[in-house]
Amino acid sequence: MARPPVHDYDVIIIGGGLTGLRAALQISRADLSCAILSKVHPLRSHSVAAQGGMNASLRNVPGSRGAIDSWERHAYDTIKGSDYLADQNSVVLMCKEAAATVIELEHMGTVWSRLENGKIAQRPFGGAGFPRTCYAADRTGHNILHTLYEQVTDKKIPVYEEFFVTSLVIDSGQCTGCTALEIMTGTVHGFCAKATLMATGGFGRIFSRSTNAIINTGDGQALAIQAGAFLKDMEFVQFHPTSLKGTNILISEAARGEGGILINRNGERFMTRYAPQSVDLAPRDVVARAIEQEIVAGRGFDGGCVHLDLRHLGEERIRERLPGIRLIAIDFAGVDPITEPIPVQPGQHYSMGGIGVGIEGRSGLPGLYAAGECACVSVHGANRLGGNSLLETVVFGRLVADSIIRDVRSEPVPASEPVLSAMKEMEEKINGILGRSGGEPLFPIIDSLKETMDTKFGIFREGSIMVKGLGEIYKLRERLGNITISDKNRAANQALIRYLELEYMFPVAEAVALGAIMRKESRGSHTRMDYPARDDDHFLNHTIASRQNEEIAITYAPVTLGMFTPEERVY
Ligand code: FUM
Repeated sequence: MARPPVHDYDVIIIGGGLTGLRAALQISRADLSCAILSKVHPLRSHSVAAQGGMNASLRNVPGSRGAIDSWERHAYDTIKGSDYLADQNSVVLMCKEAAATVIELEHMGTVWSRLENGKIAQRPFGGAGFPRTCYAADRTGHNILHTLYEQVTDKKIPVYEEFFVTSLVIDSGQCTGCTALEIMTGTVHGFCAKATLMATGGFGRIFSRSTNAIINTGDGQALAIQAGAFLKDMEFVQFHPTSLKGTNILISEAARGEGGILINRNGERFMTRYAPQSVDLAPRDVVARAIEQEIVAGRGFDGGCVHLDLRHLGEERIRERLPGIRLIAIDFAGVDPITEPIPVQPGQHYSMGGIGVGIEGRSGLPGLYAAGECACVSVHGANRLGGNSLLETVVFGRLVADSIIRDVRSEPVPASEPVLSAMKEMEEKINGILGRSGGEPLFPIIDSLKETMDTKFGIFREGSIMVKGLGEIYKLRERLGNITISDKNRAANQALIRYLELEYMFPVAEAVALGAIMRKESRGSHTRMDYPARDDDHFLNHTIASRQNEEIAITYAPVTLGMFTPEERVY
């Protein structure tokens, strides 16, 4: 009989984007064995789609009236942008590490855009008091991802690509690895490890209108809560103000950073009414709400959009700084921004919440760590500033690896029996799913779930509508067991993968919904029509979602305050 495919490493990293690659490099430097598991080739991870840049107070470009940037000012902007829900110790750490992180990436080979004097270029971004965002034209994530992948390849770190993780293995309250389906063959593999790092990215694809890659289905968050870890602040979902009308492909904030302006159908630069000081460069929650209000008030263009006008920037600047945006607009909207405005509308973009971790990346579950968008170390609170996400991935990818290195040296090698029995269980589960017949099709249920999330848990929320939405989620969940997949093959069965993703989408959607219903205030991205004010007396707290008896329970935990006292946000 063939030996079951069980693999042993000190550390396994689930996710091949920026966080996972940076962590892998750090771990390999410490002479520990590690492997990356990714459901796509790492260069197809969603990090590749990040356009705008990475924030760091490098001070290469002066602020207005010659003011000088600092990590403290970066921290202030981030915490104010978060509507004071971010943990200030995490933010301070990230902002202090930012400049060295940009330089380290440069030394690894990242091709940053340059100023005339040869220094790394920086541009203004939303909610930032300084031109702080370092960039590589409008393909920053692409550039950094290729850099880190080169390094991982050079170090010969094993990458199990197109491996879909199907369960975490828990032995006596400790995470000791995972099972994974090799997509191309349909074989179930087991991975035994002293530490498991989740670096799986966001869950944007539980919404129908999203800038996210279709792979972003919240797998890591679902695996973690099912295994006994908790999720934090899941109701805080970011809607990017400018996604392309219809397809919702990201149109980078960099376009406004370079001077682009938003216009309604009356030809009015409407952001002057919503954010008189920052105008088009207010934080994303403010701009997304403003666009939505313009559309609802009938001042949008046909198809529910406003216009992003770049024409005054001139051809040379658009070609140099925003080449990707220009091509996206031409290819997907038939519009050349050199001569015509781009039709844009808000679209889901980012998950501020995620697997709850402390500043060292440890989840509440021993052996399980998380970093990057799938985690909530709480650097973004209720609203993330553009340019802080790429920063978080690389800073915390490295720092979580340092914690793992410290922790695993004294850990015994885990027993392989629990992994073997989890593999057997997974075999039976997959055979059971493929063996079903006569049920209902998969894709209408996926579409209905996304539609519910879009229409009931969007930019503007209201209690009774969300309660109805939660009911819809529960009803759809009941239908999971009745889904039939017509492709019965084990090899390259994409429908099976979509089904398993749908299973993950439900606990994530429920955590978002419950958190949003129970947070009776408006803060950052969470705007309640029925509770329009921020309520620090009752809700200056993190929302904690955990699994209790198959259902999700919500509790609260205090925010870590520090150098900045919550005040009214004025932009
Ligand atoms: O608009 C953007 O380029 C997105 C940047 C970000 O999410 O940080």
